[in-house]
Amino acid sequence: MPSAIISPSVLASDFGQLSAECKRMIKGGAQWLHMDVMDGHFVPNITMGAPILASVSKGVPGIFMDCHMMVAQPEKWVNDIADAGGSLYCFHIEATSDPVSLIHAIHERNMKAGVAISPDTPSTAITDEVAEVADMLLVMTVYPGRGGQKFIERCVPKVSELRTRFPEIDIEVDGGVGPKTIDVCAQAGSNVIVAGTAIFGADKPDEVIATLKSAVDT
Ligand code: DX5
Ligand code: ZN
Repeated sequence: MPSAIISPSVLASDFGQLSAECKRMIKGGAQWLHMDVMDGHFVPNITMGAPILASVSKGVPGIFMDCHMMVAQPEKWVNDIADAGGSLYCFHIEATSDPVSLIHAIHERNMKAGVAISPDTPSTAITDEVAEVADMLLVMTVYPGRGGQKFIERCVPKVSELRTRFPEIDIEVDGGVGPKTIDVCAQAGSNVIVAGTAIFGADKPDEVIATLKSAVDT
């Protein structure tokens, strides 16, 4: 199984200090930063888009921006996110009819490609053809749309199913993940861990990052 990558979700951070918050997380041991892009269509909320990501990538040189695109037309934003310095472009399989072509378009812009599934989408929605070209699979453990929700445990078997089918791929979990829920995620085979509230809400985020990391790597 690939090793642990911790990707704090900046949705739980102070948006007025976004670059500083990202730097604080990197200093605390995070390898990636999870940027939740919401468009008000795929999900009801609106968060941030390419201009904000561009400011962050300028303010935090070398940052790996793990862009979670909760958008209705994922094809539309590939160039903007690439120009803004996005490192990984993760779209929802529910939002596109041609995931393989979209992955190729993402790769053409030198970003890694991720494919997300919402809680009601079965793991079989990720076909072998898709996984063969994708760099990462994201199993949502809450309904996409906002931070601070309760972890949905019934999503965990999908992680195991995907890990069995694809032993080498990065598998990310996102939503309600923290020290109390990490063990089931890690045992199921996820290695990329998103946590918003659990990290940014902690007195010592570096300790939470270390806890999450060691749960995956042991
Ligand atoms: C939910 C987002 C998540 C969220 C995670 O739609 O995709 O990334 O910010 O936040 P927590 O860890 O607080 O559930
Ligand atoms: Zn997310």
